[in-house]
Amino acid sequence: MSKALKLGVAGLGTVGAGVLNLLRQNAEVIAARAGRPIEVVAVSARDRARDRGVDVTGLAWHEDAVALAADPNVEVVVELIGGSEGPARKLVEAALNAGKPVVTANKALLATHGAALAQLSEAKASPLAYEAAVAGGIPAIKALREGLAGNRISRVAGILNGTCNYILTEMRVKGLPFATVLKTAQELGYAEADPAFDIDGVDAAHKLAILAALAFGHQVDLKALHIEGIRNVSALDIALAGELGYRIKLLGIASQDEAGVTARVHPCMVPEASPIASVDGVFNAVLAEGDAVGRVVLQGRGAGAGPTASAVVADLIDIARGRTAPVWGAASATLATAPGLPMERHRGAYYLRLMVLDQPGVIADVTGALRDAKISLESMLQRGRAPGEAVPVVLVTHECEEAEMQSALARIAALPSVVEPPAVIRIEEL
Ligand SMILES: NC(=O)c1ccc[n+]([C@@H]2O[C@H](COP(=O)([O-])OP(=O)(O)OC[C@H]3O[C@@H](n4cnc5c(N)ncnc54)[C@H](OP(=O)(O)O)[C@@H]3O)[C@@H](O)[C@H]2O)c1
Repeated sequence: MSKALKLGVAGLGTVGAGVLNLLRQNAEVIAARAGRPIEVVAVSARDRARDRGVDVTGLAWHEDAVALAADPNVEVVVELIGGSEGPARKLVEAALNAGKPVVTANKALLATHGAALAQLSEAKASPLAYEAAVAGGIPAIKALREGLAGNRISRVAGILNGTCNYILTEMRVKGLPFATVLKTAQELGYAEADPAFDIDGVDAAHKLAILAALAFGHQVDLKALHIEGIRNVSALDIALAGELGYRIKLLGIASQDEAGVTARVHPCMVPEASPIASVDGVFNAVLAEGDAVGRVVLQGRGAGAGPTASAVVADLIDIARGRTAPVWGAASATLATAPGLPMERHRGAYYLRLMVLDQPGVIADVTGALRDAKISLESMLQRGRAPGEAVPVVLVTHECEEAEMQSALARIAALPSVVEPPAVIRIEEL
């Protein structure tokens, strides 16, 4: 067998330790598929004394992660530190500049600096691979970049954040409020102490920006995304959605039509029969629609040591075999740079849930506001009777434009008989 491919691994946390363990555990099968052994020769982390559940004796230890790029024994740099700036960015740039292939799981870095890194990767002929950056163990990048490369993609969508999916699933199954489930998720280690990155949709947006760039052949552009998280999803809306035959999921959706590309992350109602509706708990899913293939749905574990290491090692085997591709699937110079469509141009159906005083004329005022914005109703549901008190009223609209919906909502929210800000969830036929 040929000589080993030598790695320098920066970051020995959940993913880094997982990669070292997987490379050892499956060394034989990995070597067979790679055509040669893959061997870690150098590592870097902050705390040398920390027990990581992985033996690092005999490996070169670099206090400064960026030094891995210059280590003459290191052929491939594996960046598993995280963050869009700081040591992770410096190391990836240094490695590419040194002509060394890089494998990373860092979606924040790719979504923020992906365009410049792709140019650097091309200029230096150093591959940059990132299968683990989106949906953990699901081979979503390979699927889009290689498996579906013959298609024009019209839509790519997914459950891209396991923390949010876990919270929404628990809220539905147990009927509990968001704050209670978030606390349990933190205790179980499914949510960070500072959960904002996950629950406000930023992490899902990083992954969607990457998928959209690959699917539609345009420069990755995080700023073009519309982002909403799950803080305002209530157990009541989840229950009412169930009565209407829907599940509420935080989805990232990017689609392309004649008008352009839209990319958005927000809570959605999806029909219970949709393949994505039954993807529960910490699981992720990625769905793509191509003109030749039709719909493809992949689901699996989106995080954790094993699934993420599985994706990192797949990239390493590709590099060992000399199988490389441009960062965004096509040469940077061929990628489109036109801005995407603003969210106001989005078209779709909407679920509205209002808390209204149970008194005559209220529904007429609400439907009047919708009529004036040219929005027609598909159905309406009123729960309970409590004269003079607030009761929930649910309205499901036909397809309309986001801008029309926002103007109707402003009027509805201002009605004296509407006692809470309306809950609005977009309906997606996936
Ligand atoms: N966790 C997942 O399931 C998952 C899934 C997909 C993608 N990812 C991505 O994978 C990357 C790593 O995530 P993780 O969960 O493994 O993070 P983590 O558990 O927090 O580990 C981060 C590692 O980076 C090391 N580190 C931090 N600053 C450093 C520096 N200046 N120089 C050298 N090492 C430094 C830390 O060292 P110490 O151990 O000494 O503190 C730690 O070993 C991130 O980009 C993340 O977004 C993670």
